[in-house]
Amino acid sequence: MTQLPGLLDTEALRKDFPILDRQVHDGRKLVYLDNAATSQKPRQVLDALAEYYERYNANVHRGVHVLAEEATALYEGARDKVAEFVNAPSRDEVIFTKNASESLNLVANMLGWADEPYRVDHETEIVITEMEHHSNIVPWQLLAQRTGAKLKWFGLTDDGRLDLSNIDEIITEKTKIVSFVLVSNILGTVNPVEAIVRRAQEVGALVCVDASQAAPHMPLDVQALQADFVAFTGHKMCGPTGIGVLWGRQELLEDLPPFLGGGEMIETVSMSSSTYAPAPHKFEAGTPPIAQAVGLGAAIDYLSAIGMDKILAHEHAITEYAVKRLLEVPDLRIIGPATAEERGAAISFTLGDIHPHDVGQVLDEQGIAVRVGHHCARPVCLRYGIPATTRASFYLYSTPADIDALVDGLEHVRNFFG
Ligand code: ALA
Repeated sequence: MTQLPGLLDTEALRKDFPILDRQVHDGRKLVYLDNAATSQKPRQVLDALAEYYERYNANVHRGVHVLAEEATALYEGARDKVAEFVNAPSRDEVIFTKNASESLNLVANMLGWADEPYRVDHETEIVITEMEHHSNIVPWQLLAQRTGAKLKWFGLTDDGRLDLSNIDEIITEKTKIVSFVLVSNILGTVNPVEAIVRRAQEVGALVCVDASQAAPHMPLDVQALQADFVAFTGHKMCGPTGIGVLWGRQELLEDLPPFLGGGEMIETVSMSSSTYAPAPHKFEAGTPPIAQAVGLGAAIDYLSAIGMDKILAHEHAITEYAVKRLLEVPDLRIIGPATAEERGAAISFTLGDIHPHDVGQVLDEQGIAVRVGHHCARPVCLRYGIPATTRASFYLYSTPADIDALVDGLEHVRNFFG
């Protein structure tokens, strides 16, 4: 078996993930390489979810009975875990949402309804990049359409990096918000946060970072990022679906208006008006995703016990090996950085003129799960003149043998299509 420096003991930790033992298509071993879409869940998270429903299930914040108090303690305990995981200065800066899309929509809507100095209107500009997931494009398009603000974006270089050569023209005195992805879900690129934040701060713009493909894979420190908002989702980091996070700087959360109204987010309500609870509750209308938050807390415990720096080192070694092996496949073109440096563990590629959907189908017949399509980042495909890509994406349980299986599978695809 191929040994690489920095690998985790995958033989041991794969035992935590029951699904990785599954066989598909008449006894073929599952090779799961669709981790950028969603990660698998360890037994520890599955047990925490079951235990929550078996022993503690109740609504939070509003009951005086023992189950309500225990459920509230578990839900708020999950907030503490998230705060520590991202090095937030205060637990009150952690807002639970249902996913990263909702977190990003929340930021866009806060700014649309805000008073000065945060208000986005027809005299202001919003900046994104061409490598964003649709969840960090469409909310800003909606905000621009509704307010008359101008939407601008950074383009991409041929090797899949952000083109920051015109940064002073893109981010200007009119810019209210710069929102960009930390690690691209389609290209794998890790973006240069510092340069963008520095320029945004020069002009007094807010910064929002989509960390959906970063939080599962590397240490995430919101204070070091120096952003104003950071969004991510639970299901890509061993947690359940239905739980997302928005971290925001406390003074902003105090000043900015709520987006969704309803139960849980109020201080007092009369028929003519309402006042709001302090953050984070001001932004959590309705019964929150309680079990999902508890599951995310268990996922954070699991990842933290392994160590995010060790997970990063493991994935770097796997990605380096994958880049090397994939480049040995004839006619394969990596869409994104063709190196393991400053890149995450998702690798998109094309294979000659074989359509990615055909690549994905023939790989699936061999038990290899990859994702095909535009990966909710269609502007990237337009930029590189391709209809779609095949994407293999790795996680803490991925092994060199998974990469070898992928490369063998691609050889089979090439033979199949002549
Ligand atoms: N955002 C997920 C992906 O990139 C679904 O596949």
